[in-house]
Amino acid sequence: MACLKIRYLYIFLLVLGAVCLYFSMNNLILFKEEPFVFKKESGVFLQLPEIDCRQNPPFLVLLVTSSHRQAPARMAIRQTWGRANVVEGRQIKTFFLLGATATQRDMTAVSQEGQRHGDIIQKDFVDVYANLTLKTMMGMEWVHHFCPQAAFVMKTDSDMFVNVYYLTQLLLKKNRTTRFFTGFFIMNGFPIRGQFSKWFVSKYEYPWDRYPPFCSGTGYVFSSDVASQVYDVSESVPFIKLEDVFVGLCLAKLNINLEELHSEQTFFPEGLHFSTCRFKKIVACHFIKPLEMLTYWQALQNSPEDECPVV
Ligand SMILES: *[C@@H]1O[C@H](CO)[C@@H](O)[C@H](O)[C@H]1NC(C)=O
Ligand SMILES: *[C@@H]1O[C@H](CO)[C@@H](O)[C@H](O)[C@H]1NC(C)=O
Repeated sequence: MACLKIRYLYIFLLVLGAVCLYFSMNNLILFKEEPFVFKKESGVFLQLPEIDCRQNPPFLVLLVTSSHRQAPARMAIRQTWGRANVVEGRQIKTFFLLGATATQRDMTAVSQEGQRHGDIIQKDFVDVYANLTLKTMMGMEWVHHFCPQAAFVMKTDSDMFVNVYYLTQLLLKKNRTTRFFTGFFIMNGFPIRGQFSKWFVSKYEYPWDRYPPFCSGTGYVFSSDVASQVYDVSESVPFIKLEDVFVGLCLAKLNINLEELHSEQTFFPEGLHFSTCRFKKIVACHFIKPLEMLTYWQALQNSPEDECPVV
């Protein structure tokens, strides 16, 4: 009898042990993937652009996320919408955001390019897609530390067409100065749990079912005070590698609401068929190749003022 009891006790302990082992391993995985928090002031600037915002405050700063592989896109942007530096009498500046690359050859190329054009902002984080939030936050930090005198900031990508003329007109008309944030709204976004998606987000990284309202990372525009405020709260929201969602989390914490720039759609994250008249009335369009940038820009430059029907 006693022998049977001991056997049961033995089995019980065995099961208990297995359960403990299971949970401790789970915890290990949890620990490994523990959502890490963004750290301000982490990393160092490798390159800063040539601008003195105190002396000469720009109206609009365009920050373009880019990588060492996108040199042709940067050249096309410099020859097109990134070239416009005075619009409606206001100063516009375009800078590229880059991280650090694995090979010395790429690093040298990026540093030479920065010296030549004076338009690269670069920090020493590893430049991979999963670090896009670090890239965006580098832009916020740069505005906060070096250019809070700018009136507006746009964060966009290297495969975008930006109509800086129309954007400037709309910003002037809107006449907002603080706590302003606009772009293409995504109001009911949710995490994609399929492991093979580019936008896969694990339950450890983001346990909730919904994202706060945010603007598509392809192009959003804000008053420059928002950069400092987002930078300020960035350590106190969960870190997520989707930079646009991360900024959305910061905005939610700050109670800054998204606002339309115009009653018509002007941001096109899904792309848009080109026509001169169409592109005269947009702010941003996605999926643009370097060569298209050049032809679209030429078409807009060559188009007479009154060519398009007034809508
Ligand atoms: C992102 O950058 C940090 C800092 O350089 C690095 O430690 C980390 O491994 C990078 N993330 C990925 C996914 O490579
Ligand atoms: C812009 O707003 C300010 C107040 O915030 C006002 O004084 C000014 O007249 C406005 N300008 C235009 C052009 O509406």
